[in-house]
Amino acid sequence: MGKIHVFEHPLIQHKVSMMRMKQTSTKDFRDLAREVITLMTFEATRDLPLKDVEIETPITKCTAKMLEGEDIAIVPILRAGLGFVDGMLSLIPNAKVGHIGLYRDPDTHEPVEYYCKLPADIDKREVFIVDPMLATGGSAVAAVNFIKARGGQNINFLCLIAAPEGIEVLQNAHPDVNIYIAAKDWNLNEDAYIVPGLGDAGDRLYGTK
Ligand code: PRP
Ligand code: URA
Repeated sequence: MGKIHVFEHPLIQHKVSMMRMKQTSTKDFRDLAREVITLMTFEATRDLPLKDVEIETPITKCTAKMLEGEDIAIVPILRAGLGFVDGMLSLIPNAKVGHIGLYRDPDTHEPVEYYCKLPADIDKREVFIVDPMLATGGSAVAAVNFIKARGGQNINFLCLIAAPEGIEVLQNAHPDVNIYIAAKDWNLNEDAYIVPGLGDAGDRLYGTK
């Protein structure tokens, strides 16, 4: 069973609250997105395996800990997930990056797929899907389906804001996936937007509204 982790760190809570505020500018929203995801990545990578290596400091030889493998893939769901990649790469610069293109049909709220390009060795990598919003859960489930269809096994889902409905849908469809969220909100409204949420994440990141 995958774990579900809700970040309670005050810095994350503060920054997410600033992202929610409707007067926050596109530039500030983007900057905050990078800061929040960097903090979340720090925690979400807590269980990465370490190995002992022999090194030499200016003082002496010693055994030190280093990451066992750097076989990580970051997979943003386009388009809003893209705004979170740089922050993650700042901590794990050798990660490979895949892309999954999905948008929600405005009427049915079902995800529509338009792109998928993943690292060829995705089956051997620890995968971190990133998307700021988990609303109905349709996009998250579709993204995990894509990755599993290509052999991906160790999958984590990072998002800023999740509705209880979306968490349940993702957990039921993919109980093995670890879910990391900065805030669990109240519910979805009749347009399947998260309440209180932050509005349309893609529009807020890219200033398209
Ligand atoms: C948003 C968000 C998620 C999806 C979540 O993307 O970035 O991908 O909605 O909703 P769901 O859980 O109900 O599937 P959107 O479809 O607005 O596309 P965009 O990023 O291109 O704006
Ligand atoms: N997608 C968004 O960008 N925001 C929501 O609240 C729900 C889906």
